[in-house]
Formats: sequence, structure tokens, C-alpha cells
Amino acid sequence: MTDEPLLRVRGLSKHFPVRLGLRTTGLVRAVDGLDFDVRPGETLGLVGESGCGKTTTGRMLVRLLEPTSGSIEFDGRDITHAGRRELRPLRQELQIIFQDPYASLNPRHTVGRIVAMPLQVNGIKPPGGIKARVQELLELVGLNPEHYNRYPHEFSGGQRQRIGIARALALRPKLIVADEPVSALDVSIQAQVVNLLRDLQRELGLAFVFIAHDLAVVRHFCQRVAVMYLGRIVEIGDRADIYERPQHPYTRALLSAIPDVTQLGPAGRIRLSGDVPTPLDPPSGCRFRTRCWKAQDICATEEPALIPRDGGRQATACHFPEGEPVSTSPEGEAASTSPGGDAASTSPEPAAAGPGVATAGTGRGVAANIEEVSS
Ligand SMILES: Nc1ncnc2c1ncn2[C@@H]1O[C@H](COP(=O)(O)OP(=O)(O)O)[C@@H](O)[C@H]1O
Ligand code: SF4
Ligand SMILES: [Mg+2]
Repeated sequence: MTDEPLLRVRGLSKHFPVRLGLRTTGLVRAVDGLDFDVRPGETLGLVGESGCGKTTTGRMLVRLLEPTSGSIEFDGRDITHAGRRELRPLRQELQIIFQDPYASLNPRHTVGRIVAMPLQVNGIKPPGGIKARVQELLELVGLNPEHYNRYPHEFSGGQRQRIGIARALALRPKLIVADEPVSALDVSIQAQVVNLLRDLQRELGLAFVFIAHDLAVVRHFCQRVAVMYLGRIVEIGDRADIYERPQHPYTRALLSAIPDVTQLGPAGRIRLSGDVPTPLDPPSGCRFRTRCWKAQDICATEEPALIPRDGGRQATACHFPEGEPVSTSPEGEAASTSPGGDAASTSPEPAAAGPGVATAGTGRGVAANIEEVSS
């Protein structure tokens, strides 16, 4: 792995205008100033509750959406505002896997046609012919190459997501943005698909931006993790640092929602109160302050910068970062997080009731079946 980033994102923002008739009455600050890099072959997890801007970010990275401001450099080229023609060669190297394996496949096309489409659109003629290449791809993702002529409705959800993965791999990309690729699948199938992506990542040296609301899934797939809240990255770092030494209160709260992998010790389980505020009118200062149990006056007036801690690669945007380490283990006991958990609660509501908070239910099923990433 080189240190030269494959993807370099600076100040990336997307503001959606809210219109009433011809007038613009407001701006949805869906994504508001992201900075991060992804090196070749690296997996970066992008995590946060529903509505925090993950999908918008993913769609900007593959330029299905035009950024409002900031920059995206891919493989040394500035693609922030690249037009159709400039993007065409890049499309081969930069692919996306969508969340919904049902909606993302054309029901009237055969699997063969769906997977062949990127090759045909880009005028690529593989040495052994398109059919052979498509069958090879189907085999690579664990599907029967003989099912080339079948239609999406003849496959299960997990198999459909494999078709989407085969399509994304057709052009031998360098980077895949996977937007919650397993969220729509049964828990029993999720681990199989994540394991497939992990094997492909290793075998083909692919870089991934892996979007998820579930920290349990990301833990086993991603070498680095960025935690998003209301359009901003609040913490970013290597996997071990994020999971064992979370310094942002929000990261700690998200982690505490997966009790089977987290032993939070005296701090116990953190229950976030209330909903994520609207990105139409985010809170002043720190955007997390309306739900943060540590908020002080300065949190309302000064936005904390995302700054590296201890000279390391972990950066946290908080005026009062956490100090205490968290002990995590894949086989941790669920019961270990409950005693004393209410001390740090911000609400009597269970954490799982918050919108999009990773829940123990999904976490346990997937985490138990995913092999550890060796980084
Ligand atoms: N086309 C759009 N127009 C207006 N608001 C949008 C649009 N797309 C997304 N948003 C808003 O932007 C915010 C972030 O959405 P999204 O990126 O889908 O979040 P996530 O994927 O993390 O759930 C949400 O508040 C959402 O309602
Ligand atoms: S800056 Fe203040 S409100 Fe924001 S996370 Fe840190 S302590 Fe909480
Ligand atoms: Mg989304």
C-alpha cells in the first residue's frame, strides 16, 4: 500500500436548495465540509445514523451528484466538476454498489445483460468475449455462471446483491463505494455478502468506501473508520483506535449500541436522547451538542475542529474528548455492558429506539459470522 491517496477529499459539501415556487427558502446542508483520504487497496468505513449524509457523500464520490463546494481528487485527477466525457474513463475505475439490490437491477434484463452492460457501454471487448467474461464474474461472486439467462426476480436478495457486485467489478475498478450493501438483506445473508466483499477486496486489491449505519459490520471490514454526524466527520481513525479508544462522545454512543462487541466498563451504555436535528438548521457550534451529555457553553459558540490527537492518525472534533479506553472483543458478553449503564444515559429511551442507531440485533448476527480483517 502506498501513502499516495487514491481518493483525496477536501472540504466536500452538498447543499440542497429548498424551493417554494421559484423562491429558495432554505438549504439542506446534507454534507458540510468533509476531509478524508483513501489509499489504494484501503477500506474506509463511513458510519453514522440515518440522515447524516452518507449516501449523499457516496453519490458525490462517484459523481452521480455534483458537489456544491470542495474538491474530489481521484488517482491524481480533479474530478469535482468533471463533465460526462471527462468522467467516462474514470467510470471504469470508480464504481458504486447500491443499498437496495431490488431497485438497482432492471427487472426486464437478464443477469447476463445487466453484468455485461458496463462492458458494452464502455466499448470493452474482453479477449474471450463478453459472455465468457460475464460468466467469469458470476463465478467470482459465487453465482452459477449457467444462470446467465435468468432474470433478477429468480434470485434471492443476497444473490441479487451479488449480481450488483459482479456488475461493479466488470470494469476492474480501483475503488468501490458500497452504500449500505447489506442493510436490506436478512441478517443470516449479511455476513456472507460482507465476507465476499472482503475476499474480493484482498484478492483484487480494491479500495472501498464502505457506508454503513452498523458499526458491527464496519469493524470487520474496514481498516479505517470515519464517523459522521449531521453532514460532518466528527471522528476518523484506524479501526483499533476508533473501537478501543473512541474520543468523540458520539462514537462512544454508537459503539455502546453494539453490546456484543463492546465492553464499556464504568461508562456503561449510552442512550442518545432525541432525534438528529434537521440539516436545514443545524445547531450552532458543535452539531452534536443538543444530544451530548458533556456539552458546555463553548460547545454552542465554537465549532470544534477535526484535529489529530496524540500526534497520531486519529482525529476528533470535540472540545472535551473522551479519555477512557474501551475494551472490545468479538466474543464479548452482551451482559457486560448493562450494569451501571444508566449513569451516562441522556434519555430513558433504549438506544435502539433512536433513528438509525446501530442495534444489538443486527450487530450480533453479522459480527458472529464475519472473519476478522488482518490489517
Ligand atoms: N435530493 C435531495 N434534496 C433535498 N434533501 C436531500 C436530498 N437528498 C438527501 N437529502 C437530505 O440530506 C440529508 C442526508 O441524506 P443522506 O445522504 O441520504 O443520508 P444517509 O445516507 O446518511 O441516511 C437528509 O436530511 C436528507 O433528507
Ligand atoms: S464539542 Fe461539546 S457538545 Fe460537542 S461532542 Fe464535544 S463535548 Fe459534546
Ligand atoms: Mg443512505
